[in-house]
Amino acid sequence: MTDVSERSGVLRRIFASETEAAPGDSHEQVVLCHDRDSGLKAVIAIHSTALGPALGGTRFHPYASEEEAVQDALNLARGMSYKNALAGLDLGGGKAVIIGDPAPRAEGGDKSEALLRAYGRFVQSLGGRYVTACDVGTYVADMDVVARECDYVTGRSPEHGGAGDSSVLTAFGVFQGMRASAQHRWGSPSLEGRRVGVAGIGKVGHYLVRHLVEEGARVVVTDVRAEAVERVRAEHPQVEVVADADALIRADLDVYAPCALGGALDDTTVPALTAGIVCGAANNQLAHPGVEKDLADRGILYAPDYVVNAGGVIQVADEIQGFVFERARAKAAKIFDTTLEIFDRARADGVPPAVSADRLAERRMADIGRLRSILLTGPRKQ
Ligand SMILES: NC(=O)c1ccc[n+]([C@@H]2O[C@H](COP(=O)([O-])OP(=O)(O)OC[C@H]3O[C@@H](n4cnc5c(N)ncnc54)[C@H](O)[C@@H]3O)[C@@H](O)[C@H]2O)c1
Repeated sequence: MTDVSERSGVLRRIFASETEAAPGDSHEQVVLCHDRDSGLKAVIAIHSTALGPALGGTRFHPYASEEEAVQDALNLARGMSYKNALAGLDLGGGKAVIIGDPAPRAEGGDKSEALLRAYGRFVQSLGGRYVTACDVGTYVADMDVVARECDYVTGRSPEHGGAGDSSVLTAFGVFQGMRASAQHRWGSPSLEGRRVGVAGIGKVGHYLVRHLVEEGARVVVTDVRAEAVERVRAEHPQVEVVADADALIRADLDVYAPCALGGALDDTTVPALTAGIVCGAANNQLAHPGVEKDLADRGILYAPDYVVNAGGVIQVADEIQGFVFERARAKAAKIFDTTLEIFDRARADGVPPAVSADRLAERRMADIGRLRSILLTGPRKQ
């Protein structure tokens, strides 16, 4: 048997033993899918099924290399285990990536009905261990196509029994996380009169602005797309607009909400931040490990991204049992309590909230995973 130190790249990571792997970085299964006829090349990564079938979206992206695609699938799948655990779902974490240009084939890209259906057959072959959904580069209409070959698909259109656009409850959940942050920081969940900066007013950001305006917050926004700014200004003329994310970070804010791309919090932006709270929808806001400590050292309360942006996965998870909006919304409202619990534990343990969130997710996976394995196999003989 090859020693782990002699393996290279992704194999080293996949087959690392519990002691060799980075914390939480141990995956159950990785499936490489190839369909020559349609040109499909995909990776399905199942990080953990301790809490149930692994749920996570399908990213369609022109990766620079196949190795990069596998690494991304592994990272994203791990993130879904933690997100689903803290969202209180009976679901594990997985993610898939399709390597290619997500534009339709008719427009010079790689996406076609044949490719999506071939992908659906691979997901089906896993018998429900992995349940897919939309992610960057895949849309509700794509999931409708995948569902023609596969039973384990969420994020479909309402006409096909799906929950539709997940950004509605993502924004609602971020708003709940922000109210919990205000409660922890200022002793009241109200955001009335608070100055909140939203960077990125796309699908999630523009719904978040609506919640904030209804709450009576003073909202400042920025977006690189003029049409996104115009849409928000047309709905809420009172919203202030600044030139770019850099100007927003330096504006006099109470709360900063990154709702565009990842990596918004880094060695340059954290020292410039004026806000006392950071709480937004963007995934992977911390550019590198250690930023959470820089935020804490500056006295800035950071609401962990994967905790507060779980409304979307709660929405698509509800679809598995037949989508009921009010039930999903009630579950997303619990993001308020979870965020508060993480802040309280972080304070008690003397660690940043991002560390506290990881610990809580790991505890749930270990405790419930152990319980499930006892129920399935019976207690071990002594
Ligand atoms: N849609 C969901 O349900 C969901 C769920 C969880 C997490 N997220 C995360 O939330 C974020 C936003 O998602 P979305 O669905 O609203 O995406 P989106 O593409 O609809 O919106 C992103 C917006 O950010 C803008 N933007 C990009 N770069 C910018 C920059 N440098 N400065 C200012 N604006 C910039 C874009 O123009 C766009 O309007 C992403 O990081 C996504 O991964 C989304």
